[in-house]
Amino acid sequence: MKLRILSTGVAVPENTVTNDRLSEMIDTSDEWIATRTGIRSRHVATGENLTELGERASNIALERAGMTPSDIDLVICSTARGDFVFPSFACCISEKLGLTCPAFDVNAACSGFIYALDVADGYISTGKAKNILLVCGEMMSRMVDWTDRSTCVLFGDGAAACVITSGSALKYLRVTADGNTRLLNMPAGSGNSPFAPRVEPGFMHMLGQEVFKFAVSSIVRETEEAFSALSITAEDIDLFLLHQANKRIIDMARSRLSQPEEKFPLNIGSYGNISSVSIPILLDELLTAGKIKKGSRLLLSAFGAGMTTGTCVIVWE
Ligand code: UT7
Repeated sequence: MKLRILSTGVAVPENTVTNDRLSEMIDTSDEWIATRTGIRSRHVATGENLTELGERASNIALERAGMTPSDIDLVICSTARGDFVFPSFACCISEKLGLTCPAFDVNAACSGFIYALDVADGYISTGKAKNILLVCGEMMSRMVDWTDRSTCVLFGDGAAACVITSGSALKYLRVTADGNTRLLNMPAGSGNSPFAPRVEPGFMHMLGQEVFKFAVSSIVRETEEAFSALSITAEDIDLFLLHQANKRIIDMARSRLSQPEEKFPLNIGSYGNISSVSIPILLDELLTAGKIKKGSRLLLSAFGAGMTTGTCVIVWE
């Protein structure tokens, strides 16, 4: 493994929607949402599109890396749904930044950031790329049914970017997919073909309690797998950056790993679940606050539709 994350950048929509605002629209309450999930508000796009958010996040990451777009030789984006079915979100970012290097998307739902890091590592390890722009962007507000209180209260919109270059920060990375599309999905629809039955595109469907159980067990299993591969224990990790889907999932995983609360930073309260963006936003916040320094030992772990998982260990350089 040959990579390090040089810099990060974040952009979220200006508009925020509080739990109280949601309870004016659907049968819910701040008390229910906050106690069951830890979420208090989320960013929901009103005017911005995903490409604009991705471009803003990229420019911040490039500036912090001391680079210009011409230093980038590969763009990898993670999204479940860009502004277009095609071209890819990555090509939209390239157009905005004036790039002509290869660009493509990865879709591993909420595990997308770790999957994209894995792909980036492959390119850097084989010498096919030197400096990679990795952008995660999700508009969850376009995918949820705003009349379904069991899903719409959980999600938010945003984008996060990283500049990745060669280094030895990445110590371990493992991704999985168990071929289960039943627990969490969103039908794409059949389009307008006159030759086939019409299937409406529809909205996100989620079996919440089953996803919850998968989440806790997969985080614990994959974390222990990482410990055993590296011959370390939970005590050797300074910070666990877990997918921000539900504070109760994080609390339960933490208690199974017998670790203190301060090792599990949270930002779900103000963002909700932004799918593949949630871990890189958290990374950006911790870096900006000076809580991650050279030598900090991080474990990142995500789960998502598919059902996918992605877990990696990074010693910050
Ligand atoms: O990255 C994507 C992955 N997704 C996740 O990680 C989600 C994992 N699952 C969860 O986080 C939880 O299962 C939820 C937060 C989705 C639901 O929490 P829960 O404790 O599993 O609640 P529940 O589904 O068992 O529902 C309990 C009650 C039900 O009412 P009854 O049947 O007991 O009368 C629901 O209808 O809560 C009701 N309910 C709500 N009430 C107020 C469901 N959503 C809401 C709501 N406001 N927003």
